Amino acid sequence: MTTSDTATERTLVIVKPDGVARNLVGEVLRRVEAKGYSIVALELRTADTDLLARHYAEHEDKPFFASLVEFMVSGPVVAAIVEGHGVIEGFRSLAGSTKPTSAAPGTIRGDLGREWGSAVVQNIVHGSDSPESAAREIGLWFPAL
Ligand code: PPS
Repeated sequence: MTTSDTATERTLVIVKPDGVARNLVGEVLRRVEAKGYSIVALELRTADTDLLARHYAEHEDKPFFASLVEFMVSGPVVAAIVEGHGVIEGFRSLAGSTKPTSAAPGTIRGDLGREWGSAVVQNIVHGSDSPESAAREIGLWFPAL
């Protein structure tokens, strides 16, 4: 195990509009806490397109960008700063792969995700994908922290 595997770090977790609408906030946060991670900030809010466009800026040239932003502003989300050893990679393991239909059982998306009824991938949660993304995203969603 390397030093970076055990470093205490912070990640941004978002329960997306489908997760909030399906009353899965508690289930997602339960899994985060059961893993041993700490929730150090938590907010329910409806984000605007400007925030989401900045959040997903690296994907602005992707074909799914517009529908992803439209989906993410379609209802309230829960944003959280989650802290723990190796939490950036660890939360993405908890979340599972992007497409719920191919995400492994035992993961949030594999156990709880659905895709039918929409061209947009509705996959319940977001987690930062690197230390750089985590710092940038936490700065966008929790500028005071
Ligand atoms: S890529 O192209 O490999 O960089 O994309 P990926 O990492 O799989 O996904 C980047 C984010 O876009 C979301 N995504 C989608 N949303 C809606 N519809 C479609 N078709 C779609 N494809 C990808 C994906 O869930 C990632 O967002 P987050 O918030 O990180 O989950």
